[in-house]
Amino acid sequence: MDYQIKTGNPEKQSSGCLVVSITDKTKLSPTAKQIDQASEGLLSKLIRRGDLERKTGKILLLNAVPNIKAQRVLMVHCGDSKELDEGKFISLMQNVFSVIKTCGAKDALIFPDEFQLPEHELDWNIAQIISQCEDSLYQFNQLKSKQDNQPTKFSRLTFALSNRDQLEEAQAAISIARAIARGKSLAKTLGNLPGNICTPGYLADQARELAKTHKKLSTSVIEEKQMTELGMGALLSVSAGSIEPAKLIVMNYKGGKKDAAPQVLVGKGVTFDTGGISLKPGAAMDEMKFDMCGAASVFGTMAALVALELPINVIGIVAAAENMPGGEATKPGDIVTSLSGQTIEILNTDAEGRLVLCDALTYAEMFNPAAIIDIATLTGACVIALGKHATGLFTNQDSLAVELLKAGNEAYDRAWHMPLWQDYQSQLDSNFADMANIGGREGGSITAACFLARYTKEQRWAHLDIAGTAWNSGKEKGATGRPVALLTHYLLDRAAEIEID
Ligand code: BES
Ligand code: MN
Ligand code: ZN
Repeated sequence: MDYQIKTGNPEKQSSGCLVVSITDKTKLSPTAKQIDQASEGLLSKLIRRGDLERKTGKILLLNAVPNIKAQRVLMVHCGDSKELDEGKFISLMQNVFSVIKTCGAKDALIFPDEFQLPEHELDWNIAQIISQCEDSLYQFNQLKSKQDNQPTKFSRLTFALSNRDQLEEAQAAISIARAIARGKSLAKTLGNLPGNICTPGYLADQARELAKTHKKLSTSVIEEKQMTELGMGALLSVSAGSIEPAKLIVMNYKGGKKDAAPQVLVGKGVTFDTGGISLKPGAAMDEMKFDMCGAASVFGTMAALVALELPINVIGIVAAAENMPGGEATKPGDIVTSLSGQTIEILNTDAEGRLVLCDALTYAEMFNPAAIIDIATLTGACVIALGKHATGLFTNQDSLAVELLKAGNEAYDRAWHMPLWQDYQSQLDSNFADMANIGGREGGSITAACFLARYTKEQRWAHLDIAGTAWNSGKEKGATGRPVALLTHYLLDRAAEIEID
């Protein structure tokens, strides 16, 4: 998709589709008014006649409007514009792009000012328009022998600015949004790929490919033999029942000063989670191909980072394994020793995410990080607690929570701060090892985070449980690319701090 910026008169703009806003009070936006005048009152006539339903998000596509250059005009009802909130804005933009991509237009022109939310600036607005545009155009059809839809002709979106002073802000917003879009698209595709293609080995290959795209990015992969030598008993216990060997993938982006402490992202990359010997029930088990979406978000964020060439050091670690109930699989009651030296009684082989992560987190300490953030589809309990709208955020440093919550709000890829109190730790007590890998039904997402906290005591660390946000189920089944936008904004904010220093 090509994004451009223009200034000038709407009725003189040649475009495949001009998007104009209609509101309860003023009815016609300034642009709509000009089109209305040029077309001898067509728009106001249609509104009077009730062709455009008076409801936020309703749209009406007009063809061949007289006396204007654009081929089509898309009227969009924004309701009471003072009450336009993020949710309404996003569903409204979804409607807009679902029409634009199928109406035959090669390009569209939108006036972001006319869809301004009271609580956000122009850059947020442009970023979200691009995000909705990209989400609407994203397709995963590489595994279908025949394509279902005709390919869209829509390939250029132009932002028309009312004021030349906005140029710089708009340009910056576009380049950030494009980088995020690229990262989200990669994350979605890796997530959507089935478990028989997207194996730990496939992810390792993808990391090597990504490293080829930028000279400051390099990839190394730790194989099972080396994991055994290092003592990564927890990670190895997950891949034990699978014929697919585990991989610990390390992507190193050196954009900052040589001695600057890196931000480390650690992704859960369980390429398929059957539950292992503690086998999951059959219903919707296919969705456990998405159990590597934490890893996918690390890939996506690395891709965005490379596109933006941020002046910071970032290390992306992916703990990739397949959780299968093979003859050599770990059994409930088995005790393993993690890289940290702490022993774990595996009471449920389906609580495997924390097992792959704990060794990756210990490994991450080696980089003397500024912060470690892990991202994981860790618990069904998090889906129950927060649903699909918020990512669960756990941290041992409140200041890190503040930074991540802020990034989530900027990106509209939001997280919610959950407790990580000592009180919950005793749920992980084991009679036979240093800890058990499950903490009972109560507060399941919290005890999972408590488990990880035992491996990050010395670190500035946060854990993002994306079990509810990483993919959609049902008719819209597919990976969402979350939380690439949150993580990219978090890194942008870190880069901005350096530039101030
Ligand atoms: N990958 C799952 C978590 C999950 C389940 C995410 C459903 C999204 C939807 C994880 O490995 C898992 O199985 N967790 C168990 C933990 C339990 C055994 C303590 C869970 O949530 O049931
Ligand atoms: Mn599991
Ligand atoms: Zn899992």
